[in-house]
Amino acid sequence: MTAHKVDVRDTASTVQMRSPVVMPSVDAARLWGDVMALGDITEAERPYTRRSFSPTFARGRAWLAERMQEAGLVVRTDAGGNLIGRREGSAADAATLMVGSHSDTVPEGGRFDGIAGVLVGLELARALRDAGCRLAHAFEVVDFLAEEPSEFGLSCIGSRALAGALEPAQLALTGPGGESLHDALVRVGGAPGQLERARRGDVAAFLELHIEQGPVLEATRIDVGVVSSIVGITRIELRFDGAAAHAGTAPMSGRRDAAVAAAQAILAARDLARALDGGPEGYFVATCGVVEVRPNASNVVPGQARVVVDARSERAASMQRFCAELKARVDAIAGDGSGVAASWQVLSHNDPAACDAALQRVLAASAQQLGLRHRSMASGAGHDAAFVARVAPSAMLFVPCREGRSHCPQEWTDSAELAAGAAVMLAAVQRLDRELPLHRVATERAS
Ligand code: GLV
Ligand code: MN
Ligand code: MN
Repeated sequence: MTAHKVDVRDTASTVQMRSPVVMPSVDAARLWGDVMALGDITEAERPYTRRSFSPTFARGRAWLAERMQEAGLVVRTDAGGNLIGRREGSAADAATLMVGSHSDTVPEGGRFDGIAGVLVGLELARALRDAGCRLAHAFEVVDFLAEEPSEFGLSCIGSRALAGALEPAQLALTGPGGESLHDALVRVGGAPGQLERARRGDVAAFLELHIEQGPVLEATRIDVGVVSSIVGITRIELRFDGAAAHAGTAPMSGRRDAAVAAAQAILAARDLARALDGGPEGYFVATCGVVEVRPNASNVVPGQARVVVDARSERAASMQRFCAELKARVDAIAGDGSGVAASWQVLSHNDPAACDAALQRVLAASAQQLGLRHRSMASGAGHDAAFVARVAPSAMLFVPCREGRSHCPQEWTDSAELAAGAAVMLAAVQRLDRELPLHRVATERAS
């Protein structure tokens, strides 16, 4: 890696840098300390787990809110449950430069996915403050609520709200114990009855740093990736209803085995995704990561099965084809005399999102300015930036991720790699502050 070339300072030297005349710079040790500290706020039995809406998540947010306050930011939770730290710009009513990501994790996830982007935003706020550098634009650090698929079956809840895309019907989704998303949102400080207040029209640019979650940057020894587009994601719930029976006495010929139907659907999803992936259709993947059978007993023929298909595509047309063909296959599985009924429900759907071309150029130029190697790349993972892009110019910067591993406790990025990415973000924010107009046309102020 060439990351060591970047001018990031250890804690000791930063102490001397806190004067109003210095150039802002990222404090690598301080940033790393934050990543480790937030990682320590985990369910003890299954690190690293901080599921959205859980008590552990609330503890992580309380810690974050304190760090934001210490950084001199004014902290609030918006109607969509996003935790936001804000510093006003020197220009009156200036538009906002926003940096952030998410602090929730998948079950037994890692310490960097999402977290890196939030904490880099925080470090930028501190670096600017320490150098006495007040931007002309307002500056915000945001921790979006529930980027990962939540217990309510919905992901990117906060960024959907910020984009005005959290639907009233979605608030009725229920989670464990029958709690509605509406009530859970109230519990984390949101205001589901006032979601229009979360929708932003004042964001001049949104930048999200994230670990790559794939192997490309590490393998090619490139310091940062400038994201060109983010895949669209469709999640479909399949339910199969057969008939439970005794595993020893029900003859094979007459069974109405819901698990067999589910297995056929899982194979169909895999085959269709393989056929669509690559070539002119671009990137396409499908995963059945939720598979449940009832009653889930070794000596009972499963009477019911539930599968959640997560399909991702760079192209909206490929997704339409996938859904149409998978639906036809599922109908055929149910209709071929299996005695199993199938139902199909699209849990969520969002189209692929392009990152803003001008912001991509700013990120690339900032990496160049710091002597870092960069490349353009598409994202196969979903991100809050895909929703923010609906209401504001948005772009993403990837930093390397060891062996491409993510959504697991082994997820890792070196401190120097993270600090290099943070330095690019800092340079980009300063550049945007100079180059972007101070006001957005038709500005709608947020709550
Ligand atoms: C987010 O982590 C995703 O599912 O891509
Ligand atoms: Mn994730
Ligand atoms: Mn993420």
